[in-house]
Order: sequence, then C-alpha cells, then structure tokens
Amino acid sequence: MNAHAGKSTAASHTIAITLEVNGRQHALTVEPRYTLADVLRDELGLTGLHLGCEQGVCGACTVHIDGQAAVSCLVLAVEAQGADIRTVESLAAPGGALSPLQQAFLDHGAFQCGFCTPGFLMVGQQLIDQGLARDRDTVRAGLSGNICRCTGYEPIIDAILSVTKMERAA
Ligand code: FES
Ligand code: FES
Repeated sequence: MNAHAGKSTAASHTIAITLEVNGRQHALTVEPRYTLADVLRDELGLTGLHLGCEQGVCGACTVHIDGQAAVSCLVLAVEAQGADIRTVESLAAPGGALSPLQQAFLDHGAFQCGFCTPGFLMVGQQLIDQGLARDRDTVRAGLSGNICRCTGYEPIIDAILSVTKMERAA
C-alpha cells in the first residue's frame, strides 16, 4: 500500500519531477505536497531515514542536500530537484562494508533502539566532512537538532570524534 494513501483522500494533481539520489537519477510522478522524506521512503524504498515528529524537531529524517544536512520532512520533493541528495544508504560501500562512522557507532555502542541513528549518522558525517567535529562542544552543538531517547548522547559524540581522530592520524 502506498503510504501516502492515508494522508488525504482528496483527488490531487500530480507533476513529473526528477530527483538525483545517491548518484542516480529518478524520474517520478508526485503530488506537489509530498515531502522529500515521503518520496525517498515510499517511492524509492530508501527506508533508512526514519520519520518521527514530521515537524523538523527530531532529526531522524536527516539527509544531505548538496552536502548539507537537512531534515527531509520539511522539504518538498519538488523543491529538491536539481540537488545532490544523499541518504544514509549512501554511507556504506557498494559491497556493503560499513563506513568508518557506521563502524564507530557499532564500536562505541552509539545506538540502542536505532530509531534516531540514521539522522545522527548523516549529521555526524557532515560534521566530519566539514572539519566541524573538533571537540565535544562542537560535536554537541552540531547535533543539537537531533534527539535520542536512549543513549544519553555521549557514545554518539565519542563515535564521531573517534573518526576525526582516525582521519587526523592517517
Ligand atoms: S521526522 Fe523530520 S525532523 Fe522529525
Ligand atoms: S538509539 Fe533509541 S532514540 Fe537514539
């Protein structure tokens, strides 16, 4: 069943759009009101991102849009045309090997239920990529838009900092 079905029964017009997701172009037909999160999950099957609040508060739906972390529940799919969209599925290598950050989350026990994890991974990766994961304070500030009910955040910060440390040592 299409997950959009429960959102409205009113007949709506649809439009053709093209999204570039994880390096692949996708031609889609969507209603203008569909969010990027909806389209990624329901139309493209990229269910790694999670939908929690759907109000931009929890960060579970975070993806990268042109290299910037963004909550995909607040972006309309039509607005994301022409952007380079990356989801959590893009982190692992094509063969499935975990990325250094994913491995660090495992090693540091940085998740429990895992609901928030895709969002934290995407924000954490951006902080690392942009050299913003310098110390606990900068990482904590960078993660301020993401909520975790389970871990107390410290293992997540440890995991992100460990990757920065590894990269500096390399
Ligand atoms: S589901 Fe998007 S921020 Fe919570
Ligand atoms: S691991 Fe459960 S909400 Fe973060």
